[in-house]
Amino acid sequence: MRKIALRLAVVLVGVCMAGSIAAAQTSSHAVDAEGHQWWQHAVFYEIYPRSFADSNNDGIGDLKGITSKLDYLKDLGVDAIWITPCFPSPQVDFGYDVSDYENIDPMYGTMADFDVLAAEAKKRDIRIILDFVVNHTSDQHKWFLDSKSSRTSAHRDWYIWRDGKGPGEPPNNWVALFGGSAWKFDPATNQYYYHYFYAEQPDLNWRNPAVKDAMFDVTRWWYKRGVAGFRLDAVETLFEDPGLHDNPILRPGKNAYGDPIEKNEYNTKLPELHDVLRGLRKVADESNGVLIGETWTADVAELNQYYGEGNNELQLPMDFLFAMINKLSPVEFRKQIAAVDAAAGWPTFVISNHDIVRSYDRYGDGKHNDQIAKLMGALYLTLRGTPIMYYGEEIGMKTTPPTRKEDVKDPIGRMGWPEEKGRDGERTPMQWDGSVNAGFSKGTPWLPVPPTYTTHNVADESKDPNSVLEFYKKVLKLRHTNRALLDGNYAALNESDRNVLSYVRLYKDQGVVVALNMSNAAQKVKLDLKHKGFVSIKNLLATGQSEAKGDEVSLEPYGVFIGELTK
Ligand code: GLC
Ligand code: CA
Repeated sequence: MRKIALRLAVVLVGVCMAGSIAAAQTSSHAVDAEGHQWWQHAVFYEIYPRSFADSNNDGIGDLKGITSKLDYLKDLGVDAIWITPCFPSPQVDFGYDVSDYENIDPMYGTMADFDVLAAEAKKRDIRIILDFVVNHTSDQHKWFLDSKSSRTSAHRDWYIWRDGKGPGEPPNNWVALFGGSAWKFDPATNQYYYHYFYAEQPDLNWRNPAVKDAMFDVTRWWYKRGVAGFRLDAVETLFEDPGLHDNPILRPGKNAYGDPIEKNEYNTKLPELHDVLRGLRKVADESNGVLIGETWTADVAELNQYYGEGNNELQLPMDFLFAMINKLSPVEFRKQIAAVDAAAGWPTFVISNHDIVRSYDRYGDGKHNDQIAKLMGALYLTLRGTPIMYYGEEIGMKTTPPTRKEDVKDPIGRMGWPEEKGRDGERTPMQWDGSVNAGFSKGTPWLPVPPTYTTHNVADESKDPNSVLEFYKKVLKLRHTNRALLDGNYAALNESDRNVLSYVRLYKDQGVVVALNMSNAAQKVKLDLKHKGFVSIKNLLATGQSEAKGDEVSLEPYGVFIGELTK
């Protein structure tokens, strides 16, 4: 019944806005007066399933664990969860080596567990996004096993096989991102296969239409099971130069794995990848799916290519330039926000994920990290765009890398030690409470629980009105209920201020102002609101002593002030 009503509403909106971009993005989901779709208002939350919640106490998180925490996520203000790969996998790259795209790895549960998770999430209006590893499969995937079985096998051309240059010599100089040559010799068929990542992750040959069809069908299969979309893994690596030209050397010396430092000119970012994204988008549109991209771009011009002409590729290409800002600098953030705000599509902000140091440590000064965690939350949760949170960020989890090589789980950390310690540090178990193993598992967790669990955990922070968690909840609540924060335009204020980042979000005659003190000293700023027609500011949410008087905001060190503008 509800579905039919929604469908009808959309038809009506569609008719009224015929010809506009909003109408072109055919959707059976409700759009608002601005033509915004659900994913433009939603808060996404990345879950690394191994580390979220362990229901059967084998030390590894699982789907039932996620289901048991849906109420927590709902209460926090999460609308969609992106689960990193939970499909059958030898786990060489912890799930990013998929051996069957249409099933669940037994360590995470069963398809029935997935269906329960999907149903329970739906009850709470939480959508599920799966991770789609498009560039490569596991070397244990049946396609690859057949591919390597003989030169004439049905799946031979599903992967990239080439003769060596000469005896013992790979086809060219390309090195894998995860160390060593990108080519692995297979003595049985006397050829090399190509892998951008680990040798256990052979690259699919996307020039083969059969690969395209099979992969597109995978997404259809999951859409039918109720998933709302995909996060597309490593999209820039989909195609390689068929002429196999050697990559140029970027600079002399060796990387952490002892390999030459190359510019990936001939094996990343080939224009053909956009055909695939357009194809995946067409399939997504059949089911109103949303596509998020792992898009490491050099600038916003490149980010724009991922939205595609008339927005026919990814709805949500992640802006990693934002996550790559390495210091708490209003100048840097202002520049990047303005650039992305002017981009061709809807901004997608990320500050942490399972591959990079958490923002808690990137911006923390060692003394005010909790305050800075609140400030970063206030920043990207109040911008125009869709935020993708990372589990544990909301409680101030700290990146905690191993201190001894023998404890490293992420293979790149073992190969690159000590220069590259791997990604274990940002993948540690979620800190639920102050009990043993932070309430994550009664078994031995696959990665040790950081010592900070005694001070930073969900249970204790829920009781402390000044915790990072309670602050996140308040910002998220405001974001979900305030029109200006949902739909308002972004405009920078006081653009030459080197200590305070401030901006307004304007929706019709409503306005919200955000002022963030990125410095270690108290600051007083007069906000330049006149030309926007506002005179003073009413407090909506602030940290500590931060407050507004008239058009002047006082901020404690690293203080946050969010206020409503009045005329
Ligand atoms: C992406 C994932 C990363 C993985 C790699 C290979 O970058 O985020 O975790 O190792 O792809 O699949
Ligand atoms: Ca488990």
